[in-house]
Amino acid sequence: MQLTDDYGRTINSLRISITNRCNLRCMYCHHEGDNREQQNECTVETFVNIVRAAKELGVSKVKFSGGEPLMREDFEDIIRALPGLKDISATTNGIYLENRAESLAESGLNRVNISLPSLSPEKYRMVTGGDVAPVLKGIDAAVDCGLTPVKLNMVLLKGINDTELRDMMDFIRQYDSSVILQLIEMMDFNGTSGYNVDIYEVEKFLESRASEIKERSMHRRKKYLINGVEVELVRPIDNSHFCASCTRLRVTSDGKLKPCLLRNDNLVDVNNKKPQEIKELMKLVTGKREPYYKS
Ligand code: 5AD
Ligand code: SF4
Repeated sequence: MQLTDDYGRTINSLRISITNRCNLRCMYCHHEGDNREQQNECTVETFVNIVRAAKELGVSKVKFSGGEPLMREDFEDIIRALPGLKDISATTNGIYLENRAESLAESGLNRVNISLPSLSPEKYRMVTGGDVAPVLKGIDAAVDCGLTPVKLNMVLLKGINDTELRDMMDFIRQYDSSVILQLIEMMDFNGTSGYNVDIYEVEKFLESRASEIKERSMHRRKKYLINGVEVELVRPIDNSHFCASCTRLRVTSDGKLKPCLLRNDNLVDVNNKKPQEIKELMKLVTGKREPYYKS
């Protein structure tokens, strides 16, 4: 059984926000489209039921995010209780990762994405309000525990980190191919459009240095191989390819199915529902899916 929406997009992954709490304050934070005010976080059991229902409907990949997922001390319990899946990953800011990487890996987490907008302590603090040193230790811990490939998420910010691409690639090279750089075009949710980088310029920069360029089917993302470092460019804005190949369904931390990051008017509550009911509601919500950017 597979869920396919009216636009021919098959749902094969869930993106679950397990909390909207966070220990950082990134200037561009989109909170994964989760309502910042609500504090009604689901229990371990609810998240597990959601994943069970999704698995029966053909979902094979789950990514956990937040807020900051490691704010939840029972994150390992959630992972441990999941049914078998092809890929279980998390997106974290890495601040708490040094102490949690091992227990997360033991619980069954396969890999992590770590947000790293800058290597410079001053710039990192300016963007996130926090300290970069624990994040760097978290990256080492993630690599040591095999939470690989570790993807470093770098949201591009004009005048802040757009001159840091070379430094970032040099930093990543030391990890051989265990670490991948993921450059992300900023979506403006907080009046930060003044920091928008010209993505065309970034593409030209990467193209001129790449020994190999590949295109991933998901979102038609381009992957560049530059001096042994893999760099991916994620370009969501005004990108109809991005939406056309979106195969994920979002879940908010209070247990609502969310068909699209960029919309809040079509959520469906599944908190405290039985797995059979969740399955029916997943089918319903799939019918509400619509690409935000159309070609
Ligand atoms: N635009 C693009 N990416 C964002 N992220 C957070 N806010 C934005 C935004 N406005 C990314 C961060 C983080 C991931 C969860 O989402 O890089 O790694
Ligand atoms: Fe938002 Fe993530 Fe930054 Fe926290 S670490 S403020 S959730 S972008």
